[in-house]
Amino acid sequence: MNVLWSGRLEEKPDPEAFAFQASIRIDQRLVLEDIQGSRVHARMLGNQGLIPRETAELLDQELARIAEDLSAGTLAVDPSAEDIHSFIEETLTQRLGEPGKMVHAGRSRNDQVAVDFRLYLKRAVPELRENILETIRVLLDRAEVHAESLMPGYTHLQRAQPVTLGHHLTAWSAALLRDAGRFADALVRLDECPLGAGALAGSGLALDRGAVAAALGFRGPSLNSMDAVADRDFALELASACGITMTHLSRFCEDAVLWASEEFKFLNLAESWSTGSSIMPQKKNPDFAELIRGKSARGIGNLVSLLTLLKGLPYAYAKDLQEDKELLFDSLDTLGSCLRMFRGMLGSAAFNVDRMAEACAEGFLEATDAAEYLVRKGMPFREAHAVAAQAVRDCLAAGQGSLRDRTLAELQELSGLFGEDVFTALTPSAAVAARNLPGGPAPEEVRRQISFLREQIRR
Ligand code: ARG
Repeated sequence: MNVLWSGRLEEKPDPEAFAFQASIRIDQRLVLEDIQGSRVHARMLGNQGLIPRETAELLDQELARIAEDLSAGTLAVDPSAEDIHSFIEETLTQRLGEPGKMVHAGRSRNDQVAVDFRLYLKRAVPELRENILETIRVLLDRAEVHAESLMPGYTHLQRAQPVTLGHHLTAWSAALLRDAGRFADALVRLDECPLGAGALAGSGLALDRGAVAAALGFRGPSLNSMDAVADRDFALELASACGITMTHLSRFCEDAVLWASEEFKFLNLAESWSTGSSIMPQKKNPDFAELIRGKSARGIGNLVSLLTLLKGLPYAYAKDLQEDKELLFDSLDTLGSCLRMFRGMLGSAAFNVDRMAEACAEGFLEATDAAEYLVRKGMPFREAHAVAAQAVRDCLAAGQGSLRDRTLAELQELSGLFGEDVFTALTPSAAVAARNLPGGPAPEEVRRQISFLREQIRR
């Protein structure tokens, strides 16, 4: 395959060096976008009288045929090409001869790769966003079923206050909704067409940048030709959105790994979403959750790599920028598969709701609710905190696991405000039902949160 710059440099690098600087392995993914951009560019050249109209039509048709041949499998991307832009231009020229050589007028690979990358993301990111929304749907379905299933809420991984499984799964969903929003925001800012920026300085040819941008479905052409080829903010923003989403999945998976342990026994993963051990016959391991947690390292690493890639670059095109796609593609792909795996694993798992409810019975999860009980009866909170703390200490001294194990007389020794109603008020389900403020775990409030989220993700 010829290189596009053989006119200036007759001697090519040796094969290993050529392969080192080539990007076809990565950017062949942009083949359809490259063709799409070239078709619009060629038609514009014809409309502007920069090439004969018939030539423009010929180029357009042949590019369409190349796309068809590629999808039919009668043409394959040549892995020895330098990059996807060279491959398409060379194929076009092999097929058409002279007219093929006209397509690159007013264009550089610098603006071409920028437009290809953005076009690809305009298609791929909404799919990824839909993947997030589908994950939220799966979580909300389970949250709804478990709006009343009690479980301990933890801080410092110590039993804190009773909540519900529905409340916990809705918390995950709220985080994922923000992630979906970050992708949507990034799409708004990336919606600018770099074509016409050339290598950095635009073109003296009378290109119609507005028409090209419109035909490719962009909001408009980018404002400044140097910025158009130098800017990779869209890649950073998306890598950041991927990194944050993966960090969320990693934390959810950490919950799942804990819950699946013998110590918690809250979660029974499906056998098909677990793996065994080559030596320990009894093992059923939460490998999928662990690996999703592990893969978040890539998402974080890719973001840091991209930031590092950009920080020292003069503000124009430099070949360093070629590294951008491999990093972002890896983040997008990894997040996409992690979301699917997370859904499969979670959607098929069984929650051990009896065990979760039991875990609310001991460990004084009702102590805060006891303090609030006293506040409702008029006691200053700090004092109520001390009274409830003393009640906990009394229980511990007596080998009891819950404030409800105290007698009314014993409680009344600490405060005359305690009444018979304290025993029902401090059951986990009453305590949860009482916390019905917006955002709280009370079942009807969690159902409201679920319908709010459903409203937000409606197609
Ligand atoms: N493969 C290059 C990239 O991904 C395309 C642009 C090359 N431009 C250049 N002047 N060498 O960034």
